[in-house]
Amino acid sequence: ASVEDDGYNEYLYKILVVGDIGTGKTSIIKRFVHNIFSMHYKSTIGVDFALKVLNWDPRTEVRLQLWDIAGQERFGSMTRVYYKEAVGAMITFDVTRASTFEAVSKWKADIDSKVTIGAEEKPIPVVLLANKCDLGKEGFIKTANEMDKYCKDNGFIGWFETSAKENLNIEKAARFLVEHILKSD
Ligand code: GTP
Ligand code: MG
Repeated sequence: ASVEDDGYNEYLYKILVVGDIGTGKTSIIKRFVHNIFSMHYKSTIGVDFALKVLNWDPRTEVRLQLWDIAGQERFGSMTRVYYKEAVGAMITFDVTRASTFEAVSKWKADIDSKVTIGAEEKPIPVVLLANKCDLGKEGFIKTANEMDKYCKDNGFIGWFETSAKENLNIEKAARFLVEHILKSD
């Protein structure tokens, strides 16, 4: 989706943000879009939306339409509808809860089975976010090398340790994802 006028490009990308309940999806988006954070937990019902405009370079503007999908929806029947026409995704887990990491592959499989790009039906690029890295990591957490291998083996374009609380690596992860999308657009 690009508009060209005097060499100026605007892109609009639909990006999914999924992952288990309470892993920090809404917090990551709020930090990214409004630069705010709250410890107060209000679980998302269904889906929420946010728009983030990135001035990519002097000739390029990238608009990210972020779909903040409730963790609860993994057990629902709406994800196929929510995923429609997405061109990228972030999957979050909580570094203090092993079950949320185990769910990562389930979210990935759900995405891959329901949304693809182009006639070749390529999987959409997905970045993995190890969130709440401001808190102590639990024993289940892999080393950086193991995480690299996990991403390679499971079709993630990369992973980042993030903290919505401390504002760590969120913008970096988003830009990394956008780079991939722009390259293949
Ligand atoms: P659902 O909408 O239920 O799927 O949850 P969610 O993934 O949107 O999680 P949400 O952003 O609502 O965060 C859940 C709780 O974790 C809240 O109390 C947040 O304040 C807290 N939280 C989110 N990100 C971080 C983080 O990076 N560090 C810490 N310490 N807490 C966080
Ligand atoms: Mg939420």
